[in-house]
Amino acid sequence: MTFQFSAARNAEKAEEVAFDVEDLFFSRTDGRGVIAAGNEVFQRISGYSWEELVGAPHKIIRHSDMPKGVFYILWERLKKGLSTGAYVKNRARDGRYYWVYAVVSPIEGGYVSVRMKPGSSVFKEVKAAYGDFLKLEREKGLGPEESANVIRMRLKELGFPSYAAFSSYAIAQEMSARDAALFRMEDSRLRSLKDALPTLVELHKEQQALFAAFEKIRGIPANMRIVASRLEPAGGPISAISQNYRLMSDEVTNHLGGFRVDNGNKNLSETVIPRIYLGLFMMAACRLQREVKEVSMAALGKHMERDGFQTEVDVLSTMLDDYTIRTGSVLVSVFNDVSVLARSAKDLRQLVTGLDSIRVLCRVEAGRLGTQSASLMPVIGQLDAFHVEIDATLERIMSLTDRVKGLVEAAMPRSFNGSLRYHPPAGGVSR
Ligand SMILES: Cc1cc2nc3c(=O)[nH]c(=O)nc-3n(C[C@H](O)[C@H](O)[C@H](O)COP(=O)(O)O)c2cc1C
Repeated sequence: MTFQFSAARNAEKAEEVAFDVEDLFFSRTDGRGVIAAGNEVFQRISGYSWEELVGAPHKIIRHSDMPKGVFYILWERLKKGLSTGAYVKNRARDGRYYWVYAVVSPIEGGYVSVRMKPGSSVFKEVKAAYGDFLKLEREKGLGPEESANVIRMRLKELGFPSYAAFSSYAIAQEMSARDAALFRMEDSRLRSLKDALPTLVELHKEQQALFAAFEKIRGIPANMRIVASRLEPAGGPISAISQNYRLMSDEVTNHLGGFRVDNGNKNLSETVIPRIYLGLFMMAACRLQREVKEVSMAALGKHMERDGFQTEVDVLSTMLDDYTIRTGSVLVSVFNDVSVLARSAKDLRQLVTGLDSIRVLCRVEAGRLGTQSASLMPVIGQLDAFHVEIDATLERIMSLTDRVKGLVEAAMPRSFNGSLRYHPPAGGVSR
């Protein structure tokens, strides 16, 4: 059956449907996005009757100002079983509009979208960006997928590695703005995880600097041996030392691989950073799900909802349980990642200290050779400069890993006695 929009649908108006920051609403659909249920707030704000809503596709409230690419990304992710957050401008029955930040989650047999009133500075930027995307879609005749690519490209330019990363950042900002609007205390756990992100980006840059520094000195021990061989037999010890230096620096280079996570296969930007974004999304979404469940239970208790609403409360309960478990799992995996990083950074520093003692030995030996060693001095000087550089980089890496570890630890759920209450995840965590 194809759905026909009611003739009663009015033309779009540049007038907003007012609703309060306290108002949380949700709708449940089947697997195709056909509305099955929702709460009273959803029905009231959309302006449609339940008879019109139930059985209608969700696009019944689609606003023509929405870029196609946003829905393309939404459905692409939903079909993969991934929860997704998005800013959506909707159209009420009378043609007025209202903006929401929606978290759409797959559930058994369909999806649930929970919505809140957006109010952060991200929202202001998104409104302007949607206008640009829409203009591009119209001018260039972009299809949904092409529009989605434009959106992803724009997000990359803004420093978001993916749409998921952006929507995580957005929901965290929206929850903070919501807390402020409701005069609530800031969520310190969410804040800690949010603060871990720029620290990790900085850490990633320092790691790259470390890799580059080691790359730069690769040829030095070989040069040293060549120069030392010209000083034979007096240069013999220097040859041996430079040989040692090379072996040891190879070991350090190998360890740089271990300074990555997932058994050295991936670097920070590929693993920990996306997982922190995921943790941020899950934590913020979990709070939203908890609130919507609580307001729905209260509404049910006050007989403000339709008959059969208990089913919806049950759906919200199951969804909250699922979010709670997955949030715990992702935080554990992030915590494990940063613990590995912190340990690797300490090992690396120890290895570099060993390497440095070989450099000192080389200097001593060159000193013993006196004026004969003049030709060795430029290469030894290069090593000195290298060690000054990596010592400083390692110092920054150590303090950044410690900081990230502390922030992630502060974001973990705690039990009443203050001990960390988490269990290793049974399987992978995805979103
Ligand atoms: C649970 C759920 C909630 C949705 N909520 C909205 C919504 O509030 N507004 C909207 O325009 N589309 C919503 N959609 C997406 C619509 O299904 C549809 O993709 C969108 O309106 C664009 O329609 P179109 O691709 O046919 O142009 C929702 C989808 C799901 C699964």
